[in-house]
Amino acid sequence: MIYNFSAGPCTLPKQATEEAAAAIANFAGTGIGILEMSHRTKPIEGMVAETESLLRELLSIPAGYEVLFLGGGASLQFCMAPMNLLAQNATADYTDTGVWANKAIKEARKFGKVNVVCSSKESVYNHIPKNFEQTPGATYLHITSNNTIYGTQWKEFPKANTYLVSDMSSDILARPIDVSKFGLIYAGAQKNMGPAGVAVAIVRSDILGKAEREIPAMLDYRTHIPEKSMFNTPPVFSIYVMNRVLHWLKNLGGVSAIEKINIKKANQLYNALDNSKLFKGTAAKEDRSTMNVPFVFREEAVAADKKEALEKTFLKVATEKGLEQLKGHRSVGGFRASIYNAMPVEGVEKLVEFMSEFEKSL
Ligand SMILES: Cc1ncc(COP(=O)(O)O)c(C=O)c1O
Repeated sequence: MIYNFSAGPCTLPKQATEEAAAAIANFAGTGIGILEMSHRTKPIEGMVAETESLLRELLSIPAGYEVLFLGGGASLQFCMAPMNLLAQNATADYTDTGVWANKAIKEARKFGKVNVVCSSKESVYNHIPKNFEQTPGATYLHITSNNTIYGTQWKEFPKANTYLVSDMSSDILARPIDVSKFGLIYAGAQKNMGPAGVAVAIVRSDILGKAEREIPAMLDYRTHIPEKSMFNTPPVFSIYVMNRVLHWLKNLGGVSAIEKINIKKANQLYNALDNSKLFKGTAAKEDRSTMNVPFVFREEAVAADKKEALEKTFLKVATEKGLEQLKGHRSVGGFRASIYNAMPVEGVEKLVEFMSEFEKSL
């Protein structure tokens, strides 16, 4: 049995990938494979509409919001969001909590004024800044709800004077959220929702059309709304995998059920780190992510000149035991276990067991 701790693309529910694999040969009993079927057919239109309604149900999306399936990943949303929402002379507030937040900031600067209201850069993004002032009259406040690289997560969303815009790529559907606080939520699919190739945008329609600029059709949310994400050929297969993942999540009891499992998995791993003499987590306790858990050797346990070799040994033995993709991101070093929705509890148990064995073996 292999447990894949990759930060994304990452492990998906087995049932969902098996159903998707079967649909490549024969989609919904049509005798035609899903990769070979026009998006303008009833079965595909129906599947996309169902995927939207599953998302609406699972996230309790209120009336007044549109749900779009778009290409270009979350990275395209870094520019689409300000292009659609931020007028040239207006200001948007951005929180700087990591590499992805920075990329969003860089893009937004191309469209309007950006005020970076807080940053945890000086401490290598090991926490979420708590107290900061917002710009009076700012169009929106942007956050990255979960910082995939640093393993920090907004536990409580900041009280904004305006609507929030959030990159939720790495924790969408991991916990219940109050969508009404957000003007826009966007997320690449390839962590909790499905494969790469599609991003979801959940946008409150009344905030659109105020940026006073000409927007290329493909980059304008308003193009995709009446077309039901079919202005161009959408990434049908990626949406279908998402459809199967959402069914899996619904059958499991939905977002509040998975939240309990996520908390259980994360607590198990963080408790192991806190009680270890060899390993420690890198994120501030109160901001620890339930999705990504970066950890390193304790300085007092491993001499600096032995660290690299021991890291390699840990990763090699882990792989031999079926615990894959545990290498940390280069900016944090060490290790990272990504334990998204589809990571089974047993995967975390196996990892904790292995970490303890490894520690004892030294
Ligand atoms: C929080 C976050 N935002 C954005 C991205 C970029 O997503 P994409 O590759 O879909 O553009 C990632 C990718 O890992 C991410 O973790």
